[in-house]
Amino acid sequence: MSRKRDKREVIVETRNLAMHFGGVRAVDQVDFTLYDKELRCLIGPNGAGKSTFFKCLTGQLSPTSGEVIIRGQDTTLAETHEIASLGVGIKTQVPNLFDGLSVDENIWMSARRWKNSKRARSLTSETIERMNLGDMRRKTVNQLSHGQRQWVELGMVVAAEPWLVLLDEPAAGMTHEETARTAELIKEINTQAALIVVEHDMQFIRMISQQVTVFHEGQILMEDTMEAISKDRRAREVYLGSRA
Ligand SMILES: Nc1ncnc2c1ncn2[C@@H]1O[C@H](COP(=O)(O)OP(=O)(O)OP(=O)(O)O)[C@@H](O)[C@H]1O
Ligand SMILES: [Mg+2]
Repeated sequence: MSRKRDKREVIVETRNLAMHFGGVRAVDQVDFTLYDKELRCLIGPNGAGKSTFFKCLTGQLSPTSGEVIIRGQDTTLAETHEIASLGVGIKTQVPNLFDGLSVDENIWMSARRWKNSKRARSLTSETIERMNLGDMRRKTVNQLSHGQRQWVELGMVVAAEPWLVLLDEPAAGMTHEETARTAELIKEINTQAALIVVEHDMQFIRMISQQVTVFHEGQILMEDTMEAISKDRRAREVYLGSRA
């Protein structure tokens, strides 16, 4: 298995990555590897360092030490917009919608940031189709439910044609039906891009997950399938407990 995996292209790598806040080692010497076309979930208890690690990848935080390499480029100290310009789609927990504009217009704005206006128009239509947003495309986004707004944000990410997508808690606050639809959208995105998804909702992780990385106290506790993690004693102790 490991020999086979080694042949795939590495698209995200961290080496000895650390992010300290005063005496708190939020991320502590993390070596992480993501291969092309992977869909990787990051889980772990509150305060385990998932969001901090995520922010070191997206350029929202500058690591204390160590390196982040994205498709061969050292992005350790790069800003978020520089990382996005490499073809990385980022959805943080901070909403990113233009409230007075329609779904169409929001997605078009995102596509137009990187493409000429003709290509942006065709990408907007393709994205609306792919992400199944046709029935709401003319609505202004402030008329939408929480779940719908999240899907529009995913559409904005997709419209930039990223080859890597980074999502922090895409199903937070969603109903079961909304979560299930979000899982389908993420699988659709994964047909064209690799993803790293930070998430708490175990049902959601089971719907989408292939390989899962468990964080604990700033470090990687284990990496495996959700099935194997559910059976692992240490993973159960630190995190899963009743959630499994
Ligand atoms: N800006 C900050 N300043 C100081 N400490 C921080 C900061 N951000 C995070 N921390 C601390 O770093 C540790 C890791 O936090 P982080 O938010 O990365 O955890 P998490 O795994 O995302 O947790 P959750 O599941 O609750 O979202 C925690 O102890 C947190 O209090
Ligand atoms: Mg977090």
